[in-house]
Amino acid sequence: MSTIGFSIRRATVDDAALMSRIASETFVETFGHLYPAQDLQYFLDHSYSTAAQRDSLADPASAMWLVEDAHGAAIGHAYAGPCGLPHAAARAGDGELKRLYLLARTHNAGVGSQLLQAALDWLQRDGPRTLWVGVWSENLGAQRFYARHGFEKVGEYEFPVGQTRDHEFILRRRPGVA
Ligand SMILES: CC(C)(COP(=O)(O)OP(=O)(O)OC[C@H]1O[C@@H](n2cnc3c(N)ncnc32)[C@H](O)[C@@H]1OP(=O)(O)O)[C@@H](O)C(=O)NCCC(=O)NCCS
Repeated sequence: MSTIGFSIRRATVDDAALMSRIASETFVETFGHLYPAQDLQYFLDHSYSTAAQRDSLADPASAMWLVEDAHGAAIGHAYAGPCGLPHAAARAGDGELKRLYLLARTHNAGVGSQLLQAALDWLQRDGPRTLWVGVWSENLGAQRFYARHGFEKVGEYEFPVGQTRDHEFILRRRPGVA
């Protein structure tokens, strides 16, 4: 495992444009090759726009984090909030890790684990609760990563990216699991 200098901080509404940029950059780098250009652009324009990030950042039920390198440049982000995944067992009060993305050049250095921990701590700020995450069915690396952090596959669903439908797994972590 390599080591890199980095810091993690909660993002504020003033970070909306920066969040839009790093969210778009990491999504395109990770998954951009999977979609027709118009589907990818539609998704970025609607879900990753500055306005959409500002709405999420202004919502007290949600939180976002920025990861910055030693020079202050954004290298990743996370986003958490109430569970919105379509699973029959999901309850009001359950939390969801909605995004966890780092630039590829920083992978496998332990940054993702620390970023995940920041999101889990916030999601469980009032005590243990059931947590959920959706992950692409073919993203085996992320599935291993979440399994190591106590998440288990409990369902599947289709995630829209423009007209494309991604086959996704729904993972759950029960309260009190470390
Ligand atoms: C998933 C991710 C946040 C993990 O962060 P990280 O800093 O690389 O993780 P750590 O160094 O703490 O742990 C390493 C583990 O991360 C996972 N991982 C590493 N590279 C990965 C990649 N390119 N894609 C997905 N998972 C990856 C693996 O489980 C790896 O361990 P293993 O391959 O030895 O089993 C990071 O790899 C990433 O941003 N991947 C691309 C975006 C992504 O897939 N996000 C999840 C969407 S649900």
